[in-house]
Amino acid sequence: MAISKKKIFLVVGARPNFMKAAPLIAELKKHPDQIAPQMIHTGQHYDYKLSKLFFDELGMSKPDVYLGVGSGSHAKQTARIMIELEQVFLKDRPDLVVVFGDINSTLAASVVAAKLCIRLAHVESGLRSFDNSMPEEINRIVTDRLSDLLFVSEESGLSNLENEGVPAEKIHFVGNIMIDSLVHNLETSRKSSILSDLELEPNEYAVLTLHRPANVDESDQLFELMECIAEIAHSIPIIFPCHPRTKVAIEKSDLVAKLFNRELRLIEPLGYLDFLRLQSQSHFVLTDSGGIQEETTYLNIPCITLRHNTERPSTVTVGSNTIVGVNPSLIKGAAAKVLDGHAKKGKVPALWDGKTSQRIVEILLQDT
Ligand code: UD1
Repeated sequence: MAISKKKIFLVVGARPNFMKAAPLIAELKKHPDQIAPQMIHTGQHYDYKLSKLFFDELGMSKPDVYLGVGSGSHAKQTARIMIELEQVFLKDRPDLVVVFGDINSTLAASVVAAKLCIRLAHVESGLRSFDNSMPEEINRIVTDRLSDLLFVSEESGLSNLENEGVPAEKIHFVGNIMIDSLVHNLETSRKSSILSDLELEPNEYAVLTLHRPANVDESDQLFELMECIAEIAHSIPIIFPCHPRTKVAIEKSDLVAKLFNRELRLIEPLGYLDFLRLQSQSHFVLTDSGGIQEETTYLNIPCITLRHNTERPSTVTVGSNTIVGVNPSLIKGAAAKVLDGHAKKGKVPALWDGKTSQRIVEILLQDT
């Protein structure tokens, strides 16, 4: 008698999901007799440089289903994803839905799967900033509450889930899947021509990324931050690959737009390999991203995080990350410390070893 294959749907939507899904789908495809995986892309991110470029560079084939939901307010975007996903799940009835990280697509897929009584797995579970003003924190809490399999990337996730009363048998400490992509692609990224394209020498520039609504949506806040970063750029050139959300904010403010020049260089968003090359050769990174705090920790590049908190505390307690908030004098102080040769050195947290996707698939093969 033929044994039916387990139908697993991976739901992705925005840039930080793609490097988490790529190693998992590759690993799932090694078990064609037992598992039939499908990739559903909600279309939350749709620009070539935020989406298709990542699929191509990470070696993923075209998504099996593309929903094309696009941008909108949180309620509109989440609702559109839910409406579309419900049709897909009802038609094809997966045995398991896998979601990643903390974006609106993650939340929408979790709610739809749970209401259809489909088993739900969350990759990057248990992270908490304890700051409900971040939309991602709401997405994390709801997704974890609904998940049947919770795959944890760092030790804080274990204690957070335990404190929330999640039964231990649902929780699996598997490590950081985004580091799988980094490990697999670091060598390839050395072929990127980004440094020569930008006429940069290794270690002689810093990198900036900024896209959190709290930092960029309000022009006064954005100006205060960028003005202080422009001052740091007098000491070392800073390269700023700019997220579309931030670009919109910059275009609205003449004051901010005037701060860019050859020292503080505004460039288009980069693909995965160019960005990996750029950050891995940099002197330090200034960011408000979650994933970049983790990548710099793995690479042991000093990271100055322009937020008041982090949901990834191991990057601070173990890694090379320093949380400085958005106070200009603290940011300038942190940058000066790195430039004076007193950068924080870190180690790599437990199970950030490039084998997380294998550990997840072993668990999924046992899961009934
Ligand atoms: C989303 C995630 C955030 C993640 C970030 C990574 C949520 C709540 N937020 O934020 O956690 O860190 O992605 O990039 O899910 N836009 C484009 N082209 C695109 C996509 C967006 O121009 O392909 C512009 C639109 O103006 C849009 C804005 O960016 O309104 C914001 O996009 P959205 O997906 O809502 O949130 P992000 O800020 O990208």
